[in-house]
Amino acid sequence: MRKKVIAGNWKMNKVLSEATQFVEDTKNNVPSSEQVESVVCAPYPFLHALVEKAQGTDLKVAAQNMHFEENGAFTGEVSPVMLKDLGVTYVVLGHSERRELFAETDETVNKKVHAAFNHDLTPIVCVGETLEQRENNETMSHVEDQVKKALEGLSDDQVKATIIAYEPIWAIGTGKTATSEQANEVCTHIRNVVKETVSTDAGEAVRIQYGGSVKPANVDELLAQSDIDGALVGGASLEADSFLKLAEAGAK
Ligand code: 13P
Repeated sequence: MRKKVIAGNWKMNKVLSEATQFVEDTKNNVPSSEQVESVVCAPYPFLHALVEKAQGTDLKVAAQNMHFEENGAFTGEVSPVMLKDLGVTYVVLGHSERRELFAETDETVNKKVHAAFNHDLTPIVCVGETLEQRENNETMSHVEDQVKKALEGLSDDQVKATIIAYEPIWAIGTGKTATSEQANEVCTHIRNVVKETVSTDAGEAVRIQYGGSVKPANVDELLAQSDIDGALVGGASLEADSFLKLAEAGAK
């Protein structure tokens, strides 16, 4: 049985006082981490304060991106060493907004996934198709390609520890959720791709989240699907009450 992972991706939202208040309101109210992993993916400037605040609780803190190098002349970048040193435990990699707006490529995503494992960070690797690709029947081949490239060169155990987030771009922030059948169909395909290209065990173990307009009202149905092991949530993760409802759904 794969443990579910509910991750709230705040994107570029909140100021420090709001971020710390959120953690104050949720850290002792999320379900036990034996039932579900509850994660907040916060902007870099808040990470230190949030990790300290959440210390010893079942709420975990993630970064939304990182560079793959450990240090050096990379102005404006943040390294895996820095994240690890702060006590961050997860990192979102290859989000479609980074791919579309900040020139993230499959190659850099793969380098970042390796860097995450080299520094004991759990990667949440995002994949997903555009509306145009879906309409052209390219969803499966596109997502398959992204998954294969992201996981290239990883060991079996590393793949087992990876979290893949399937986020159809047309469903992000639009209020248009993929139906649970549509979402599961792609998640099943991703699992089969991992089984075929890595190993059956890795395919069984890898956790696959769905993301795209997930909210308390639709999360149960999505999580009831055979191959959906959690959710990566934007808008509905910004309020503590809503995030707690999502985390509770993951613990059912
Ligand atoms: P929304 O939940 O706001 O659609 O965002 C999804 C997302 O991009 C999470 O990473």
